[in-house]
Amino acid sequence: MSKSRKLKVLMAGAELAPFAKVGGLGDVMGALPKALARNNVDVKVMLPFYGHIDKRKHKVKLVEKNISIEIDNEVDSFDLYKTTLPGSRVPLFLVKHPIFDFKKVYIGSKNVVKMSGKRKEIKDIQRFAFFAKAIARTIEKKKWELDVVHAHDWHLALLPTFIDEYSLRHPHFRNIKTLFTIHNLAMQGITGLDIVDYGGLHNKMTPALMEDYYDKDGDVIDFMKVGILSADYINTVSPNYAKEILTKEYGEGLEQYLQRRKKNLYGIINGIDVRVFDPQKDKFLKKKYSLKTVGKNKKINKQFLQTKQGLAKNDVPLFGLVSRLVSQKGMDILVPALDKVLAKNEMQVIVLGTGDPMIEKQVVALAKKYPKKVKANITFSLDMAQRIYAGSDFFLMPSRFEPCGLGQMMAMRYGTVPIARKTGGLKDTVKNNKTGVVFEKYTITATKVALEQALKIYNNPVKMEKMVKAGMKEDFSWENSAKMYKNLYKKLK
Ligand code: GLC
Repeated sequence: MSKSRKLKVLMAGAELAPFAKVGGLGDVMGALPKALARNNVDVKVMLPFYGHIDKRKHKVKLVEKNISIEIDNEVDSFDLYKTTLPGSRVPLFLVKHPIFDFKKVYIGSKNVVKMSGKRKEIKDIQRFAFFAKAIARTIEKKKWELDVVHAHDWHLALLPTFIDEYSLRHPHFRNIKTLFTIHNLAMQGITGLDIVDYGGLHNKMTPALMEDYYDKDGDVIDFMKVGILSADYINTVSPNYAKEILTKEYGEGLEQYLQRRKKNLYGIINGIDVRVFDPQKDKFLKKKYSLKTVGKNKKINKQFLQTKQGLAKNDVPLFGLVSRLVSQKGMDILVPALDKVLAKNEMQVIVLGTGDPMIEKQVVALAKKYPKKVKANITFSLDMAQRIYAGSDFFLMPSRFEPCGLGQMMAMRYGTVPIARKTGGLKDTVKNNKTGVVFEKYTITATKVALEQALKIYNNPVKMEKMVKAGMKEDFSWENSAKMYKNLYKKLK
């Protein structure tokens, strides 16, 4: 590659904020391409054209109709649309086909759609196999010159295999290298062997797919495993998680494959969109603030939050939690620990999130038991989330495992002190006793001790202020991480 030529990258994932967001994957996909573009990378992005994406609002334009695609042993077609990522010139290409035309990103259970003139039953796994193939077809059709194809999480884990198969037939694909980013190893995309035939792939053409097809772990294809074995490079979203997943404790059964790929496995910490998460500009706040005004103005946001949530405007420590309510997030240690600490102390807790119905119930039960101290908001609301980041004193993040975690960084940016378990990206981003309270053991007792530690810090205003400010001073912008991704792309060339 000559020095003057820009690196050409195509990135794809199942989510991309603000078009389609369920969790942190959406935030990363929405911010990283823009940060790369600012660093002189020629990057384009692809996303399914989900049914809820507003064509007019996002100024989506048709690029090409009826691009043929062989799927499920039949010839079908999709349409290609285009827009740009908000506030940038990064092109976003959307793949339009009935298989994606639902009002949500993930459909969960089976659904019926019309494909190649027939009604067919599909699940998410078929939808994302389709998407991966549609990307390969688009590269072929549009004759895109690319250095790197960057696939995210299990949904796109077959993309490197499609690229490999295409490169056997099309010289055009031969110089394309692949990077596979793991955001969460626990979600793997495991399905029957028939997915190979569905995608028009071959079980003996590429070593990764062949290995998974014929190995002795049952007649299944594990998308994540194929991604790990097939991509030229792999990375996770924090350096610590990249190490952890090599162990049995965190490897989710894939540690042996990750160990094999260890030389080509990297960890790059996520950033957050510091333009969106900015207490100086955030329009959802009652009173904006900076490092200088935090002492005075954060309180106003706290009182506003307390009032909005129906809590007394007391000067007691306020703990916020904004999260998917799932076991990954450590709710099984947090809820009983909170129960114990709430019984004996003046404090308030505000929870925001949805997830596992069992965990939702536990949170609601806690709020019922302490109606004057705990509020459970079993929903998701962007503005409420921002107000919790800004109005709380502490932010709860006791995760069982955490590939990166974004909430703790958002919290620190708003001067809210995270209480985090020492795992994954939390270990990389929260400094114990300096920017947060970090505890190690995954137990109710350790969580309780950490909560009590927070209460003590709150009662020591000098210490509290120091920690608030230390967190706000940390740099969580995407700039550093984008540079690291760029270096990785360069290495691949
Ligand atoms: C997943 C992980 C989370 C990470 C996010 C973005 O949601 O669970 O830790 O921050 O992806 O990479």
